[in-house]
Amino acid sequence: MAQRGGCTVVVGCQWGDEGKGKIVDVLAERADIVARYQGGANAGHTVKVKDEEFVLHQIPSGILHEGKRCLLGNGVVLDTQQFFQEYDALVRRGIDMEGRVGVSLRAQLLLPYHRMLDQMAEDCATEKIGTTGRGIGPAYEDKAGRRGLRVADLANAERVEMRVREGRDRARRRLEQLGQNGLAELDRALEETLALGERLLGLATDTGYEITRALRAGQRVLLEGAQGTALDLDHGTYPFVTSSNTTAAAAATGTGIGPTSIDSVVGVVKAYTTRVGEGPLPTALEPEMDERLRQLGGEFGATTGRPRRCGWFDSVITRHAAQVNGLTGVAVTKLDVLDTLAELQVATAYRLPDGSVTDRFPADTGALSSIEPVYESMPGWQAPTDGVRRLSDLPSKARSYLDRIEELTEAPVRWISVGTERDQIIPVE
Ligand code: GDP
Ligand code: IMO
Ligand code: MG
Repeated sequence: MAQRGGCTVVVGCQWGDEGKGKIVDVLAERADIVARYQGGANAGHTVKVKDEEFVLHQIPSGILHEGKRCLLGNGVVLDTQQFFQEYDALVRRGIDMEGRVGVSLRAQLLLPYHRMLDQMAEDCATEKIGTTGRGIGPAYEDKAGRRGLRVADLANAERVEMRVREGRDRARRRLEQLGQNGLAELDRALEETLALGERLLGLATDTGYEITRALRAGQRVLLEGAQGTALDLDHGTYPFVTSSNTTAAAAATGTGIGPTSIDSVVGVVKAYTTRVGEGPLPTALEPEMDERLRQLGGEFGATTGRPRRCGWFDSVITRHAAQVNGLTGVAVTKLDVLDTLAELQVATAYRLPDGSVTDRFPADTGALSSIEPVYESMPGWQAPTDGVRRLSDLPSKARSYLDRIEELTEAPVRWISVGTERDQIIPVE
């Protein structure tokens, strides 16, 4: 991140699960504030500290560093029940949370009926998205539909009552249409959520104001993305995306600062590719190799436990990510996972059904399902990298692989992660 007081965005460059949690945790050591700017409990960011593993869904990954302030910006859809479960679990594990967590007054509340509607929509859809079932789509629909409830509204009991009643009635009608009955359960969950309103208001803040003041005082701020570029509502594989803008520009609107306050953008890039949920994965592996990489990389969803599909490194998507995020640097993660492979493939371009070749990411998601990746073969290094801490100590074939990733992605590699531990990171000077 920027050396002086400054603001850095950390953003996923593939289909999520690139290791953003690990990179944010590493960079947070030198930061004062870490803020999430979009998404909600669909995210699962895993951070390992010594022998303990933490999976963070809504609370920023800076929370494991003592004293850092952690914010949830206005771009987030906040699931209050989940949030306090996560909060209290961290307290039980000995994390000092006192005065450290702030929630934007403008953040949208994700309510139990959003979860219900999400699951129902998936059950009925002809084109399933494979969502995490956390209510993300319906919560953002209510936000855009101007019928959502924000944290600030919690201070006004009448407004809460009116909006929740309307939301609940919409959910009830949908349930009835589908011949289902879950109202009693819904009412219980709503009651539980609203009972947490006071507690949530106690954490409420103006995130844009806080961050701006901190930057002016020379402090360092990290803005933590969730999901990844290929899951961005505009720039990803629509409709197989999440319902927010995951990319770096959203870090400004999602926290309440101007784009000129952002100094650098770090793209997190896994050394291969994975995807969980529906939608095309152009460099998907054949079943045997897919299984091998999944086992080597422990590629199972941190939120839903679903197996992640695995693919070779795809530079078409990382180049697209470099462009739409304006990357100033890249953190390559999970290089160690490839240590035992004899040969690696890197996709440099796509061959379209008409035989033409493109190195640009197609807007037509349908076309993505019928493209053939153009591969370049590279020799594996077949040596352990998990103990390496200096670039010069990496096997030369691993360095060639990284050089090729850098060249094809068109952004400089600044960090290489070679394991889950904090110190398993190689800075590139
Ligand atoms: P995120 O959603 O982008 O934060 O990523 P996840 O936490 O969902 O998935 C990344 C997984 O890879 C987690 O289990 C991390 O602990 C793990 N991980 C992160 N970096 C590395 C690395 O360099 N090597 C290995 N082997 N595992 C890593
Ligand atoms: P992190 O932050 C990987 C995927 C879901 C589904 C699609 C839409 O851990 O990288 P949603 O529940 O958001 O409506 O689901 O997006 N998805 C993720 N995939 N990592 C994530 O988060 C994801 N969050 C959502 O699997 O395909
Ligand atoms: Mg994840």
